[in-house]
Amino acid sequence: MEISIVILAAGQGTRMRSAYPKALQPLAGRPLLQHVIDCALALGADDICVVYGHGGEIVPARFSNKALRWALQAEQLGTGHAAQQAMPDTPDDNRVLILFGDVPLIRPSTLERMLETCKNDDVAILTVDMDDPHGYGRIVRSKGKVLRNVEQKDATPEQQDIREINTGVLSAPASRLKPWLNRLRNNNAQGEYYLTDVIEMAVQEGIVVHAVKSDDRKEVMGINDRKQLAEAERTLQRRVVEELMAQGVSFADPDRVDIRGKLVCGMDVFIDVNAVFEGDVTLGDNVRIESNNVIRNSSLGAGTVVHPNCHIDGSAAGTTCEIGPFSRLRPGAELENNVKIGNFVEVKKSTIASGSKANHLSYIGDTTIGTNVNVGAGTITCNYDGANKHHTIIGDGAFIGSGVELVAPVEIGAGATIGAGSTITKPAPSGALTVARARQATIPDWQRPEKKPKP
Ligand code: UD1
Ligand code: CA
Repeated sequence: MEISIVILAAGQGTRMRSAYPKALQPLAGRPLLQHVIDCALALGADDICVVYGHGGEIVPARFSNKALRWALQAEQLGTGHAAQQAMPDTPDDNRVLILFGDVPLIRPSTLERMLETCKNDDVAILTVDMDDPHGYGRIVRSKGKVLRNVEQKDATPEQQDIREINTGVLSAPASRLKPWLNRLRNNNAQGEYYLTDVIEMAVQEGIVVHAVKSDDRKEVMGINDRKQLAEAERTLQRRVVEELMAQGVSFADPDRVDIRGKLVCGMDVFIDVNAVFEGDVTLGDNVRIESNNVIRNSSLGAGTVVHPNCHIDGSAAGTTCEIGPFSRLRPGAELENNVKIGNFVEVKKSTIASGSKANHLSYIGDTTIGTNVNVGAGTITCNYDGANKHHTIIGDGAFIGSGVELVAPVEIGAGATIGAGSTITKPAPSGALTVARARQATIPDWQRPEKKPKP
């Protein structure tokens, strides 16, 4: 049977107290809903429909995947009503799997296990035993068999003691689900059309309802408020870090790192505390990331070390480079091998070939630097004339003294030496010393000004 996954994500998420729809709240740097969509894609579903509503079109606009089908729930009248909005285009022959946009940590393997229990017309729900079931729907059983779900607000005191809760994940054949949804009523404490009422309808029709238990409470947690969002963030971070540790990555403290995207690591990588990775980051073998670094959409080659307090974005480094402390690599910074970028050095849209160094207090923008170049302390490229950006070229083996201004467009020849404090506006020839600054003079009888006495 083909699978149609329906993701319910139309709710406002009142308990978040946010101007943004809950589906877009960020978890590990991606919208909550993205996590559920990724899970649905990982399951290889034949059809994925997202029910959206609160926040309107800004929700679908955030997701570019063409394989998704979107169904609008203009008014949020409950989870059953939401599921109903996805039904018109859901093929009758398919089995429907309903996921919640606010249950983002669910694993594809758990859903596969649940789907495997379903035969023919069976219904399956995913449940879990919670120490504190407050807020969740409770699974009412009789002689071990599932009878129905009762929501927190509708539960009697005895039912509130039930610890087996409904995770919201439910699977039923479309041909059965459609008429059940049409029969839902909203005569309950919240005046909503509860999806969960189809459980009792199935039981009454003599259909087997499998309650598959997840053994991981955290995987099925619903995100309703900021506290739960923060809890889910830590859970997800821990999961990602554990996967990386299993692949041979060391963390100084697995609880003090944030991976908001995809981090791919070679062997024997070491990551110290407070490292934040965003987007796609690749670290080669033996890379060492020291404390307090933010690294986004970048790749660092084998043996490269990033000392504390750097910001690296849209950049690439080859092997055994040394970056930081306090360096900033902006988009388009490309370092070959054995390059050193030191403290308070900013590099933007520049290529720095192997063996070159800029160790202190520099700005290098729109520049091509050859091999084994030394950029002295405080040297900057003046790449912007107030209207346009211009390029600087520095040849192999050049030595740029301290405090030099390279006014682009300008070219420094291979092996050239530039005297400290020079302002270079014209090409500097290869192999020669170029100095461009006022000559030093001493004024013999000069007196320092003296402080005037107060009147
Ligand atoms: C729901 C379940 C509850 C379960 C819990 C698990 C029902 C009636 N209750 O309760 O049994 O224990 O989840 O986390 O199903 N949504 C819509 N349209 C609506 C209402 C909700 O799309 O009109 C979406 C929300 O965006 C959310 C999901 O459905 O992603 C769940 O809604 P929510 O209001 O959070 O339900 P809970 O009270 O948590
Ligand atoms: Ca919820």
